[in-house]
Amino acid sequence: MLGDFAYCNPTKLYFGENSLGYLASELKKYGKNIILVYGGGSVKKNGIYDEVMAVLKAEGKDVAEISGVMPNPTLNKLYEGIEIARSHKPDLILAVGGGSVCDYSKALSVSVNCKEDPWEKYYLKFEEPDCEIIPVGCVLTMVGTGSEMNAGAVITNTETKMKIGHVFADEKIMPVFSILNPRYTMTLPHYQMVSGIYDIFNHICEQYFSGDDDNTSDYISEGLMRSLIHSSRIANKTPLDYEARSNIMWTATWALNTLVAKGKSTDWMVHMLGQAVGAHTNATHGMTLAAVSLPYYKYIMPYGLEKFKSFAINVWGVDANGKTDTETALEGLSAMESWMNELGLVMNITDLGADEAMVEGIADSTIILEGGYKILSRNEIVDILKQSL
Ligand code: NZQ
Ligand code: ZN
Repeated sequence: MLGDFAYCNPTKLYFGENSLGYLASELKKYGKNIILVYGGGSVKKNGIYDEVMAVLKAEGKDVAEISGVMPNPTLNKLYEGIEIARSHKPDLILAVGGGSVCDYSKALSVSVNCKEDPWEKYYLKFEEPDCEIIPVGCVLTMVGTGSEMNAGAVITNTETKMKIGHVFADEKIMPVFSILNPRYTMTLPHYQMVSGIYDIFNHICEQYFSGDDDNTSDYISEGLMRSLIHSSRIANKTPLDYEARSNIMWTATWALNTLVAKGKSTDWMVHMLGQAVGAHTNATHGMTLAAVSLPYYKYIMPYGLEKFKSFAINVWGVDANGKTDTETALEGLSAMESWMNELGLVMNITDLGADEAMVEGIADSTIILEGGYKILSRNEIVDILKQSL
């Protein structure tokens, strides 16, 4: 490992079928006023809302609700929540849902006491908060983003068509606790389950495909990817398999809780492309990543050939004997493609609602990052998007 770093992750995790049992003890650490944040209603249908409410009531909390947080939460919804939170003066924000609800709650936590416009400050200028931050706790119901143990908060500005994630540097923005019960994820539709699985996989890829040094993080990443491929195949066939679903949940957390990014540069261009597609189509996050991944990875492969070769051998079990490095690396990508098809992922942006006329606009919404094997030009972005159609 060649990079210097500090590592601190303060999120306390409670994992397993009985993990909600720890909510009461966590709630006792905070004052009476709670903002309960949830999405479009899945938690009401599957009973998680009632379970959480019972604990809040038993603890004597005064609860205000922000409901209807949509997938890919919008800036307008954030403004709406800020008004509710300012009048309720919360001691804790409790997010019950997937990455969208968790991200939204974190964005809210840094915005309630912010004197400036949060979009301008956090998403355009990428500044850190200089106001009081309200602590966030999570009860996770959808697996993929890693939002339960990181300081990321992605918000979409539907007017400017920009979907921007700010990964805050201050670890105070990470949830103070997260409750991870794999059973809570069992009601997810297959589409969401596999989308989340690909999101996890791509988070690992984004941190793996960068750097030339011998790095412990890359070995951890290869192990996480192998575990995910194995469990995803079981969950794809038998979605209610608890062992597979719990492994997937745990892998998601480790894929994006900052650990495997330590001591190395990271890429994140699939996410920049995917988020731009999302800003124009409002498509499901993991599917936007799946739809642009192969054109992108095939394009950058020659610039990071050694790593793509390791990926083929160590993650996909490709036999390199008698093959050139390029042949081995390509075989790895084709194994990945077969697995993606096996899961039923969306493999092009056309199926997500994009068309050729939208490519220039999507390219305009794509933020170019410089941590991967190839810094893309705008023309290269347009080419990759066209190949993703
Ligand atoms: O809104 P409800 O009715 O709850 O339905 C949700 C939503 O429609 C449903 N769902 C969630 N749990 C369920 C369930 N349905 C049945 N049973 C359950 N147990 O699933 C749908 C998707 O939920 P959402 O929270 O949007 O999914 P996800 O967890 O993939 O979050 C996506 C958001 O997170 C951002 C994405 O960009 C996107 O905005 N990301 C956050 C990251 C981070 N914090 O680090 C990193 C990621 O790369 C990602 O960008
Ligand atoms: Zn993601």
